[in-house]
Amino acid sequence: MGGKPSKAVRYDGNPEAASTASQISSTTPTVTIDGRVYHSDELSSYCLPRDEEEQDRLNSQHFALKALFGSNTLSYVQENLTLEAKILDIGCGSGSWVMEMAIDHPHAHVTGIDMADMFPTMIRPENVKFELANVLNGIPYPDNTFDFVHMRLLIAAFREHEWPLVIAEIFRVLKPNGLVQLMESDFTVQRRQDPYIGSKLAKLLTNASFNIEMEDVRVLDYGDDENPVSREMLWNWKNAMHSLKPLLGHRVTQHPDQYDMVVDRFIQDCDRYHWYVKLWAYCGRKPNVA
Ligand SMILES: C[S@@+](CC[C@H](N)C(=O)[O-])C[C@H]1O[C@@H](n2cnc3c(N)ncnc32)[C@H](O)[C@@H]1O
Repeated sequence: MGGKPSKAVRYDGNPEAASTASQISSTTPTVTIDGRVYHSDELSSYCLPRDEEEQDRLNSQHFALKALFGSNTLSYVQENLTLEAKILDIGCGSGSWVMEMAIDHPHAHVTGIDMADMFPTMIRPENVKFELANVLNGIPYPDNTFDFVHMRLLIAAFREHEWPLVIAEIFRVLKPNGLVQLMESDFTVQRRQDPYIGSKLAKLLTNASFNIEMEDVRVLDYGDDENPVSREMLWNWKNAMHSLKPLLGHRVTQHPDQYDMVVDRFIQDCDRYHWYVKLWAYCGRKPNVA
């Protein structure tokens, strides 16, 4: 068992309440189940672990996604990012995206925030900063701070009604003309998250007054054994499914002991019957209004 639960301050959509750094925490509560470490913040629906094994999974997923899309950012972002851009990655996980962006853009300042401290603490480029924050309490920076905000694979992190609040917060912390890049996949859900969020990203962005600058939608065949990205993502999916045992064990089997076997059969079927995963990526721009 980990620390004491943090105060559940539900983000109320009031940008004033979120515009200070007071929401940055120094620790997050955890719970250990069957040797895996999960967060235990009542405020959040997020159910994947936050231990070293999960860091490995996130690192492998990062490189698979980079290979699938050909880059860490959409081409529109590459063409429009300023030299000394202030960049924020929300839900940065193990920090791979942040570290690579900092190396590729040595004059930029890259900040990663996450509710779990899975990011590197010692070795990192000088232009990188990581902070602990649960964005459901608001994004802990003042208005108009960043030139570029990135958020990837938070599908399991937010309930359906929380998405517009988070997008409004991204809008608030972006400078006028600032860019946002979102990427999500399809998924099945357990805690009132939205399995269709990927296909709704464009609408969420336009509803929050962003202009859409670029869309990139990719489909990956889990059964394509010639494609190393498919193999990597299938391994990743299997690892994530096993990690969800405490949440799903009693729901998908009568005996939780059978859960691992059911997952392995499911993964074999994804491979054999060529299940697809679809990923949506968008770049939006905050209008330059006075
Ligand atoms: C599936 S991982 C994706 C990590 C990273 N974005 C990537 O693409 O490699 C989701 C991350 O979001 C974090 N997260 C979930 N809910 C969050 C919240 N409310 N505030 C901040 N981070 C959150 C989790 O701790 C986890 O590291």
